[in-house]
Amino acid sequence: MSQFDSVSLAPADPILSITEAFKADSNPDKINLSVGVFVDDSGVTPILGTVREAEKRIVETNATKSYLPITGSPNYGALTQKLCFGNSLADSLKGRIITAHTPGGTGALRVAADFISSSLEANSVWLSNPSWANHKGIFSAAGLEPQTYAYFDQSTLSLDYPAFIESIKTIPAGDIVILHACCHNPTGADLSPAQWDEVAAIAANAGWIPLLDFAYQGFGTDIETDAYCVRAFAQTGKALFVCQSFSKNIGLYRERVGALHVVVGNEDEAKRVTSQVKIAVRTNYSNPPAHGGAIVETVLGNADLRSTWITEVTAMRERIHEVRDQFVRALEAAGVGRDFSFLKEQKGMFSFTGLTKEQAIGLRQDHSIYIVDSGRINVAGITSKNLPRLVEVLKGTLS
Ligand code: LMR
Repeated sequence: MSQFDSVSLAPADPILSITEAFKADSNPDKINLSVGVFVDDSGVTPILGTVREAEKRIVETNATKSYLPITGSPNYGALTQKLCFGNSLADSLKGRIITAHTPGGTGALRVAADFISSSLEANSVWLSNPSWANHKGIFSAAGLEPQTYAYFDQSTLSLDYPAFIESIKTIPAGDIVILHACCHNPTGADLSPAQWDEVAAIAANAGWIPLLDFAYQGFGTDIETDAYCVRAFAQTGKALFVCQSFSKNIGLYRERVGALHVVVGNEDEAKRVTSQVKIAVRTNYSNPPAHGGAIVETVLGNADLRSTWITEVTAMRERIHEVRDQFVRALEAAGVGRDFSFLKEQKGMFSFTGLTKEQAIGLRQDHSIYIVDSGRINVAGITSKNLPRLVEVLKGTLS
């Protein structure tokens, strides 16, 4: 009899477990299109040149390894606010945006979830159907019961905007609505600026609180356009959460660096909300890890590094766009009996292929091609080397 007899086996993580299986596969031709990690055409996830330069400068100037403040360095807060809200809005909202430097976007989501659970009177949090597989777990772990709103039409593999609008109009005041600011994960189906304006007006009118998961700034259209909805919601003057990640756009995946921004109504609210956010941070991880944040601060805070970084993000985004084109053309040329042109309309790293769970499992077991069971693929994992085999196998799977 062991004291751990009562521990049950938890289900494997639907995304990260697929990469674990990929790593254990000895097939030299294996292909990983599961986790959202950018690779270049040689299959490598590069360390950006600006990151290498920032690290050099940090090593030369670092004076201490003492703790950061609970919500991180104020300069990190100011720079990340500007990236997300834009300079003029960040200035005009001064004193009304509170920022916590968090371990990744996931850390930002969990701190937000704990704060919402402990301090707000939300009855539910609402997730798009479908949403990032980890959203439900994060909010449930904080004691909140996620519900879903309509978003994606599985038959056309595109956004069902009328159903989405109808659905969010019924969400009660005070509830929290999780929205993907750009590059919707897992579908790649985004809203246009005009559609975001309509959604921001609905939120302001209905009184539900938007929480924007912002993990792919720069991977959709460009740094500024991808932030359109953040600014549209902030301009309504209502409460807003933004969970920002630098895993993808600065390639800092394993450094775990992100930020939680909360837009509040006035300075008194800012004081009270900050005090509660600090408790959420202190009881989870005490204060943020410094290195990733220092890199972000150095890249965003130096004009030379910042402009080179914009070029690097542009190159990553353009590669993803090119891969989408090449993939669709190769599928057409191979005579795969299905129209995949929708892949070209989708934004960011991910696409919903419409493949079933059985087909996803078959790809893994029979062909060492790793995609998420939902049929989501990370387009950024396709290279000129693996494309021909991928297309050939898909043709066989779909015929
Ligand atoms: C993904 O969706 O693949 C990424 O956001 C990585 C993760 O943590 O799931």
